Amino acid sequence: MQRMSKTLTVLGIETSCDETAAAVLRLTDGRAELVSDVIRTQLKEHAPYLGVVPEIAARAHAELADLTVKAAMHDAGISYSELDGIAATSGPGLIGGVLVGMMTGKAIAQAAGKPFIAVNHLEGHALSPRLGNDCPFPYLLLLVSGGHCQFLEVRGLGDYRRLGSTIDDAVGEAFDKTAKTLGLGFPGGPAVERLAEGGNPAAFALPRPLLNRPGLDMSFAGLKTAVARAAAEDTMNDDRMRDLCASFQIAVTDILATKAALALEAFDPGEDGTKRFVVAGGVAANKAIRAALDDVAKAAGARLIAPPLRHCTDNAAMIALARALSKARPGTLAPGRDPAGRSMKQRQNQRPSTERAAGAPRPDQAAF
Ligand code: KG4
Ligand code: ZN
Repeated sequence: MQRMSKTLTVLGIETSCDETAAAVLRLTDGRAELVSDVIRTQLKEHAPYLGVVPEIAARAHAELADLTVKAAMHDAGISYSELDGIAATSGPGLIGGVLVGMMTGKAIAQAAGKPFIAVNHLEGHALSPRLGNDCPFPYLLLLVSGGHCQFLEVRGLGDYRRLGSTIDDAVGEAFDKTAKTLGLGFPGGPAVERLAEGGNPAAFALPRPLLNRPGLDMSFAGLKTAVARAAAEDTMNDDRMRDLCASFQIAVTDILATKAALALEAFDPGEDGTKRFVVAGGVAANKAIRAALDDVAKAAGARLIAPPLRHCTDNAAMIALARALSKARPGTLAPGRDPAGRSMKQRQNQRPSTERAAGAPRPDQAAF
């Protein structure tokens, strides 16, 4: 007898940082098809402040969330009654934006009589390589963005292990703060990379915190401070700016490449023996870092997979995918529970507020 294939259609909503995003995804027999994918970035709103301002982010999400969902539904050409479920990021993230996304999703779910499920943002990132890519489990994931910096072993759906992470700043944040110190604007990563191309990476001796310590934890706060000190003590002309950017970038690259080599050495590829190493997040756009990670992967006999940047950075497709995959899995989840089986209440108790105010924990420091 021929097996009937089952299709799930899910609306995903992402509002945890500075992107308001909505996407409709169809999952048929484990294969994901992205039907629509709308991402509205708030870069312009935050640029004058050289960083993401939580209050501005929350207000922008409130203004755009419903319109973004409407655009995604319009692009998909379907009605709410045709959805099987609605998912929104429940954290970690900036609390104002998270609330906007959750309430938007819950309101739609209630009005349409559809199930709603809260999705962990980091689970979305962990599964994002599977968005239209051939990336079977298990794989090693290095997530490097403005809010995250961590190694995750992704063995299967709901089977994730954090192997190491930054103990202070995220790596993208270090790029942004270096750019701020040097007056290069926001976001800092692309500007620092551009200047680094013409600079001498050996010109400034910058620290590589935790580089020679065992384990996969990383640290970037000391490096950022060292850049600020070097800039203050130097007569910074254009050449010296280029040199400092190059010296900073090579220090970050050394840290990520050294820890990636350790992570790959320890990673068990399972039965098929193929070591897959995925790099995701905004910093994955950096060509020097990507080339170094490619070398490390080759030396370890691994395959480096870099998903399209659109799905490396914050997006709603990965949130819809996490929801669709969890629903397609045997033992359907009850609404209000996450794929780890914890209730919303348990998760809220476990996770601190992640407002990015001075001294507050970073989104990537929340438990996963
Ligand atoms: O993933 P993403 O778009 O947003 C989140 O932070 O979640 O990542 C943005 C971060 C910013 O810190 C930005 O400076 C950094 O990624 N970035 C880069 C590059 N392009 C973006 N860092 C280094 N080199 C780049 N080319
Ligand atoms: Zn993210």
